[in-house]
Amino acid sequence: MIIDIKSTGYQNDVSRVKLYTEGKKLKAHVMTFGCQQNEADSERARGILLDMGYELSDNYRECDIILVNTCAIREHAEMKALSMLGNFRAVKKNNPDLIVGVFGCMAAEPTVMEKIKKDFHYVSFTFEPNMLHMLPSLVLAALEKSKRTFVIGEDKGDIVEGSPVYRVGDFKAWVSIMYGCNNFCSYCIVPYVRGRERSRRSEDVLSECKELISNGVKEITLLGQNVNSYRSDISFAELLERIALIDGDFTVRFMTSHPKDVSEKLILVMKKYSGKIAPYFHLPLQSGSDSILKKMNRSYDRERFISVAKKLKTEIPGLALSTDVIIGFPGETEEDFEDTMNVLREIRFDMVYSFLYSKREGTKAASMTDFVEDSAKNDRMKKLLAEQDIISYEMNQPYVGNVCRVLVESVSKRGGGDTYTARTGSNKLVHFKSDKNSIGNFINVKIEKAGAFDLFATEINNI
Ligand code: SAH
Ligand code: SF4
Ligand code: F3S
Repeated sequence: MIIDIKSTGYQNDVSRVKLYTEGKKLKAHVMTFGCQQNEADSERARGILLDMGYELSDNYRECDIILVNTCAIREHAEMKALSMLGNFRAVKKNNPDLIVGVFGCMAAEPTVMEKIKKDFHYVSFTFEPNMLHMLPSLVLAALEKSKRTFVIGEDKGDIVEGSPVYRVGDFKAWVSIMYGCNNFCSYCIVPYVRGRERSRRSEDVLSECKELISNGVKEITLLGQNVNSYRSDISFAELLERIALIDGDFTVRFMTSHPKDVSEKLILVMKKYSGKIAPYFHLPLQSGSDSILKKMNRSYDRERFISVAKKLKTEIPGLALSTDVIIGFPGETEEDFEDTMNVLREIRFDMVYSFLYSKREGTKAASMTDFVEDSAKNDRMKKLLAEQDIISYEMNQPYVGNVCRVLVESVSKRGGGDTYTARTGSNKLVHFKSDKNSIGNFINVKIEKAGAFDLFATEINNI
């Protein structure tokens, strides 16, 4: 069901929270772990906090409300969030009125909720993803010092439209187009914490994109756990085409795609609108071994993956391809790992994100007992990184001497204040020196040098 946020108790709760915040200059901080979906949800949380009369602050130590948006994808991500929660004990000591709320993917795990209940008394509320519209009522309960609330198992598969959003940048924007996942890859917790797939109406997505573009946004990134599984009255390829047809000087990107849903039409659309749709595709492989892919429940085999990847590369000019790989899935032998390496060698991805397998309670793989020793996992990771660094380096060399149109993102972390960082359509980072601040604009640069992870360029003024 599609729910307009204003038709919920939202407005009423916001007004009641305002009675507490009015004239008090109360400060709020939202901290984000995890993927772009979480970044996008945090922007919404910030929008709602502003609506309720809070001011935003970068320093959580001075805040009256701290919200932590958590990620459950690997154990390490969970440890990070819990240790951050531990830091708030001291803040609460200094400010007994502090409200701490936890949301995001960990908040949908019953074991985590129990732990927070027991060990983190100063956490006033938790709520699972897709429940942001409840934030005002939860803050209100905390302000009224009524009992702690844990919202879990409530997600009915609704889509809430009309939430306020506070976007961090004014020239780049995330636009979620679908939520949840139906794929149940055997290692992955996402379907359990984010619920079933649901897609927004195309007219809602299109009007959001039009508004962003008319407000000067230069880059839109469409988001979804399986963004290309988007299905409403139109397909993902059609949606992308309609966005590309919006007037204006902007680029559209999307992530993350599932290999099973790369349609002919999607490739055609990317080709036809290559000026608007960024020539970049993230296509997660996970493993190059057929037996492991089967155990992972990935629904494609090595041959099918290779043919999709090759088709993308040959059909879309200048396309950069990246992937995700899991190392040490239960039962992965040296031969299985070698199969993965062989796919990396054959396809030659521009970038590979590799992760050590992490057991997630509740998933199918958690009950598999043929685990891989840590030492073997680490050796494989080292080998993969060493080889892929060379491939990435080689993939970047043809850029040298080329002129690229790039979107300037920030002051560079490498070099002094006169060095800026931009991104090519193919998602490569480019550093260049400039005497003027062009953040948020497209400019032309000439690539002079290329490393494995960055390009180095000079600015071109008159092109
Ligand atoms: N929806 C996307 C991405 C999901 S999470 C997709 O289908 O690919 C991002 C990446 O985290 C995954 O691609 C996978 O490589 C990794 N990942 C997911 N679960 C994991 C686990 N239990 N251990 C290690 N890596 C994992
Ligand atoms: Fe997880 Fe697989 Fe869904 Fe991606 S497609 S979110 S890896 S279950
Ligand atoms: Fe993490 Fe949830 Fe994203 S588990 S990767 S924040 S969907």
